[in-house]
Amino acid sequence: MAATNSIETDMQRFGALFAAATDASEDAQPLAAGSVIVAGMGGSGIAGRLAQALAERCGGLRVSAWSDYGLPAWADGSERLIAVSYSGNTAETLSGVERAIELGCGWEAITTGGRLAALGREYGAPVTAIEPGHQPRAALPLLLVPLLQRLPIAGIAAQLTEAGEVLGAAVSPVGAATAASPPAPAAAPDGGESGATASPAAIAAQLAGKLPFIYGAGGLATVAYRWRCQIAENAKQLAVHHALPELDHNEIVGWASPPPNAVVVALREPDEPARVAARWKATRAAAWRDVPVIECRARGESPLARWLSLVHLGDTVSVELAHLNGVEPTPVRVIEELKRRLDD
Ligand code: PA5
Repeated sequence: MAATNSIETDMQRFGALFAAATDASEDAQPLAAGSVIVAGMGGSGIAGRLAQALAERCGGLRVSAWSDYGLPAWADGSERLIAVSYSGNTAETLSGVERAIELGCGWEAITTGGRLAALGREYGAPVTAIEPGHQPRAALPLLLVPLLQRLPIAGIAAQLTEAGEVLGAAVSPVGAATAASPPAPAAAPDGGESGATASPAAIAAQLAGKLPFIYGAGGLATVAYRWRCQIAENAKQLAVHHALPELDHNEIVGWASPPPNAVVVALREPDEPARVAARWKATRAAAWRDVPVIECRARGESPLARWLSLVHLGDTVSVELAHLNGVEPTPVRVIEELKRRLDD
């Protein structure tokens, strides 16, 4: 699929895309509470991962993100499947739909078209049509908002409203010549616990030529994964991610001999629970004494607003890093080549 929008353009319009998606899906009816599987890969799959993390944090229903062929073996037909695929032609996601049909699960899709939309028409399954012309990873607001509108996560309506405000959607309509600036989380590039705000460009400068280890607690581990994927796809650079507190029980030991170019990126929420703040402090003292630590704090009140403020920061950092690396952020030729090889 030819993408018509560059990653840079869409990254600047992140808030505007979020606002457009909110307007487009405001009449969506939430599902009844129950168990929902959200299938999707890569740039589409991150929507399901964020939804799962939000349901885990806030409650309201059980959401399982699934990024593989078929469906989990425990699926028995009582779940509802929401298949998210920007192109509508992703093999793993399509095989999840085929399995749902075999099991008799209710299912629906969020897509621009492709085989997924055709299956929806054939089986009478609801299809939320997404605007074409973006890279899947840049279309995250377009995929995530209608997904969240369908999930009865506690407080989701207020969280979507606040996220829109934090992302600057209100001042940046789609198509505006001047897009909203990314939210400016407080970040301490020198690793201080409460340092000055760092710009995306300053953070990117610290990551160029380095191996970033991106860490977050709770739902911010999913945001750390988004940073990792965006650094790979946009900046064409490897990164690592892990979750606190789990990393304290395994990966921390490896910091005894870190790669010489290692940098830690700590994604943090304001007013963290004391036990989380204490764990960051102790982990840093125990493992990262000689390692640069870039600390980034989310903005906003609700989990969704906070997490998306750091998603957007990471997206922006990855584009700045692409420029420093001298690569084009938009194309992902190796993914396209791989899909062609698998089709042959
Ligand atoms: O960023 C990308 O292009 C990929 O990660 C795709 O999102 C992934 O291959 C799945 O494709 P789609 O989003 O069209 O389902």
